[in-house]
Amino acid sequence: MVIYEAQAQFKPQGLVGISDKQIDEHWKLYEGYCKQSNMLKSELKAMREGGEGGSLLYADRRRRLAFEMCGMLVHDYYFANLKAGVARDVAKEFTALVAEKYGSFEAWLADFKACGATRGVGHAICYFDPMTGDINNHFIELHNDGHMPGFACLLSMDVWEHAFLLDYLPSERAKYIDMFIENVNWEVVEQRTQDAKAKKASLRF
Ligand SMILES: [Fe+2]
Repeated sequence: MVIYEAQAQFKPQGLVGISDKQIDEHWKLYEGYCKQSNMLKSELKAMREGGEGGSLLYADRRRRLAFEMCGMLVHDYYFANLKAGVARDVAKEFTALVAEKYGSFEAWLADFKACGATRGVGHAICYFDPMTGDINNHFIELHNDGHMPGFACLLSMDVWEHAFLLDYLPSERAKYIDMFIENVNWEVVEQRTQDAKAKKASLRF
């Protein structure tokens, strides 16, 4: 069985406006999503093998797996697309893509920020459809509600309070979003864009 783990090589440090302490605490939650995913997969396997695969309990545990496993995945993408000091001009294909759809990079960014300001907890994800070339900003409620199956995640922004509460007040989500944008690893976003346009899966680790 595949065992998942937090991808330490992508752990951000020295971000501007998002403290290392904030990242450390958030990272612990990410490790928890990996651990819970592994535990639930084992539990489901044991239940299937015990003849309980059709039970209500199994169905509920499977629902729980969606929360934990999507939690792991959105954080894989989130932490990997954060790095201090990467200039946006490296993201040429991404910039061209969003400008074509939204009219300008700035118009796309305004929509992405508005997506992140959606009331409730979740992630703003810029998704690209490799089949049609369409690109949209989607609000993912909790970790698991609102994903686009088969689309490529180009940029993942966590807007749960746990992503910023050590550095900002709950009412200051917009300040955190501004700092998130300041710390986007545009090289990663550009690579994901190129992979998606080539209909290739991007490396998560
Ligand atoms: Fe998070």
